[in-house]
Amino acid sequence: MKILVTGGAGFIGSNYIRMVLQEHTDTEIVNLDALTYAGNLENLADIENDPRYTFIKADMTNAAQVRSVFEAHPNLDAILNFAAESHVDRSLHVGADAFIQTNIAGTQHLLDACRTFKIGRFLQVSTDEVYGSLGPEGRFTETTPLTPNNPYSATKAAADFMVRAAARSYKLDAVTTRCSNNFGPYQFPEKLIPLMIANALEEKPLPVYGDGMHVRDWIYVEDHCRGIDLVLRQGQSGEIYNIGSMHDIPNLELVKTLLAKLGKSESLITFVQDRPGHDRRYAMDALKIQRELGWAPRYSFEQAMQKTIDWYLTHRDWLEHVRSGQYSVYYEKMYSQRAKA
Ligand code: NAD
Ligand code: DAU
Repeated sequence: MKILVTGGAGFIGSNYIRMVLQEHTDTEIVNLDALTYAGNLENLADIENDPRYTFIKADMTNAAQVRSVFEAHPNLDAILNFAAESHVDRSLHVGADAFIQTNIAGTQHLLDACRTFKIGRFLQVSTDEVYGSLGPEGRFTETTPLTPNNPYSATKAAADFMVRAAARSYKLDAVTTRCSNNFGPYQFPEKLIPLMIANALEEKPLPVYGDGMHVRDWIYVEDHCRGIDLVLRQGQSGEIYNIGSMHDIPNLELVKTLLAKLGKSESLITFVQDRPGHDRRYAMDALKIQRELGWAPRYSFEQAMQKTIDWYLTHRDWLEHVRSGQYSVYYEKMYSQRAKA
């Protein structure tokens, strides 16, 4: 099987590529990535010379570049679309344009190329955020209406609809996965868990938004990647599959757990101004993928958190590299405007 992965130099994509090359010796991967601030070839340094792996620097927002990748690789069996602008705070504070271009137009360029080049299967990597926010009870199922609340999730929902439209209109063999919050190795430290680990290691304030009682449902990245791979190979055409470990906890509890594991003081916690329109609670019902495809998470939250902390502790150089340069500019801009709550 030959798969085109987009966004493979990012957090989840790089974990997916590494896992697949290890576990499916008959699979070849072509990685199309624009190398934005979130794309980092260091994430793939250990596999860059694998003969079953090819990297192509290309931008999905450019239809001609997308087409030329398909022309150069005429024998692709499937497309796996990880590439996205993925950070909610950037969509709110830096601007939505890049999100519209990559997440919507970029996805459409891939769908168009799939049609032209008669690609067998397209998998859209989507998110629980498209469902909006839950009240204190209940979980998102695949039939929960889409009510996204921020520019990032609105563009992801739009992309999901474009995928649906291509499947309905042109009989494209498409499947969609929607996953909850991931954590694990190589996550860019603009996201909650690596940001808190990095700050705690330097004894810097840990900026918790609002009252810290917003709930997220956490899954280890490797479990997400296994779910994606299963849907790619065995999912029913046209179907949507939720993926999640059903471990939903308030942010404050998560941050306190991290501090305890790192042996750092809770006095580092600093409550700051809330995210505008901050979704109060996400919780996934992932029973469909369990029932129909036999997927189950392999890691408990405890095990996964320990593995993640250990990885960041043993990859301090990676953390240093990704936090140098533009990251400090971003951090200053994002957090200086969030006065203490
Ligand atoms: P990430 O931000 O770490 O990586 C995104 C990658 O896409 C980067 O390598 C970047 O260079 C690339 N990219 C961005 N714009 C591009 C463009 N125009 N052309 C080509 N490449 C481009 O993201 P992530 O956290 O790994 O998320 C991957 C996917 O999974 C996204 O689609 C996201 O919506 C989805 N998702 C993420 C989570 C999560 O918790 N991180 C949960 C559910 C779903
Ligand atoms: O739910 C899936 C989504 O999870 C993915 O689709 C997104 O790509 C991914 O970025 C993530 O979105 P979140 O907004 O949930 O993740 P983030 O790590 O930015 O924030 C997690 C929670 O922590 C959220 O409630 C906001 C809060 N937070 C975040 C940061 C960065 C803080 O309290 N302080 C912070 O500094």
